[in-house]
Amino acid sequence: MEQKPTSNIIQATEPRKEIQLSPPQVKGGMPLMEALGERRSKRSFSGSGISDQQLSDLLWAANGINSHAAFRGQPGLRTAPTARNHQEIELYVFIPSGIYLYDAFNNKLVLVREGDHRASAGEQGFFAEAPLSLCIAAHFKKMEAYTEEKKQFYSAVDAGYVSQNIYLYCASEGLCTVACGRIDREVLHNLLLLDQGKAILSHPVGIE
Ligand SMILES: Cc1cc2nc3c(=O)[nH]c(=O)nc-3n(C[C@H](O)[C@H](O)[C@H](O)COP(=O)(O)O)c2cc1C
Repeated sequence: MEQKPTSNIIQATEPRKEIQLSPPQVKGGMPLMEALGERRSKRSFSGSGISDQQLSDLLWAANGINSHAAFRGQPGLRTAPTARNHQEIELYVFIPSGIYLYDAFNNKLVLVREGDHRASAGEQGFFAEAPLSLCIAAHFKKMEAYTEEKKQFYSAVDAGYVSQNIYLYCASEGLCTVACGRIDREVLHNLLLLDQGKAILSHPVGIE
């Protein structure tokens, strides 16, 4: 696989309030059946980065906007489905300069917390080595009509689609990732400033 230039966004150590991402490349890539054939959990990371374009494409593949048609109270639709189109799943990006929320509608990263918190994205040692990690979290405010049991159930199911999208994008680009449920949800709850919300899974992403 051709080596891509290392991402300026990932390498930067100074936090920025907002980081505009390049438009995602939504054509091409590995054929779906081949990506499914390649999908695997991989847990070793060399520490080298991925390109800015790959970062944008990864986030779009994971939970980006693939239609601007308004539907059920939302201004667009995403690459991952959600029960009743609640779109309660959000992605938090852990990179050396800080933790950012992926604003899918505006294709940008919004600073949530300054500093390198990559080692806290999950409980296994490889989180400190991966150039970036994604935390998949649910915002329960968007599911107010649901009982607590339904919030827990549907948000976990919805997070699974995003997780598989991350796996397939990584497979198609020769990147390493693993879905991790072994995370400290209390620590993440505080780090991500989640009010009525829950961290569900984290994915370190990088190159072997
Ligand atoms: C919901 C979920 C939670 C997981 N949590 C962890 C985890 O905390 N740590 C880890 O190393 N792997 C974790 N895994 C990865 C599984 O161990 C892995 O998917 C399984 O061994 C099958 O391997 P494969 O993904 O390469 O097919 C998790 C997978 C899923 C679907």
